Amino acid sequence: MIKAVLYVHILSATAWVGGSLLLFALGILLRDKSAQKSVYAHLGPIYGYFETFWLILLWITGLTLFFHFGIDDVMANAPQSELSELMRTKLTIVGILTILTIVHMFIAFKTHTIDRTPLQNVISRGSSLLIFFLNLVIVWYAIGIRDLL
Ligand code: HEM
Repeated sequence: MIKAVLYVHILSATAWVGGSLLLFALGILLRDKSAQKSVYAHLGPIYGYFETFWLILLWITGLTLFFHFGIDDVMANAPQSELSELMRTKLTIVGILTILTIVHMFIAFKTHTIDRTPLQNVISRGSSLLIFFLNLVIVWYAIGIRDLL
């Protein structure tokens, strides 16, 4: 059973991180401004729902694994252990990433059919860039945690 949970967790991670890699690549490689605008206009909302679905699954399966392996006990009783440190860092990064995702989506849906203000543009682009890099770091920490279980 727990193997199925891990399977869904890893599948969700590939979808979530893969989606962000694709959109990041589109943002850089699609230089034609009008093509970019139209791609984002059509793809944006679908991408938003797609990514939200996988992030929620990551939280559900991640917390299931977390309690199954007794990491809550390890963190409570051995807070200085390597596992606790890695998990604390991973959870902090996933927490920041989740907040950034909510902020990003809020602006995206609010300004879907209208022009963004310069501030909305900076926040929206900054958050997606940060989400992209944080994803790369999280996978690194996930492997470290797996090594210790
Ligand atoms: C963006 C969010 C997340 C991503 C991309 C992610 C990614 C991953 C990946 C790729 C693995 C497998 C590592 C391996 O097998 O080498 C993993 C394992 C794990 N994740 Fe996550 N994770 C995320 C969120 C979470 C959350 C929110 C929790 C807990 C609250 C969590 C808890 C765990 C645990 C306990 C494992 C180890 C399970 C095992 O390997 O048997 N993850 N994660």
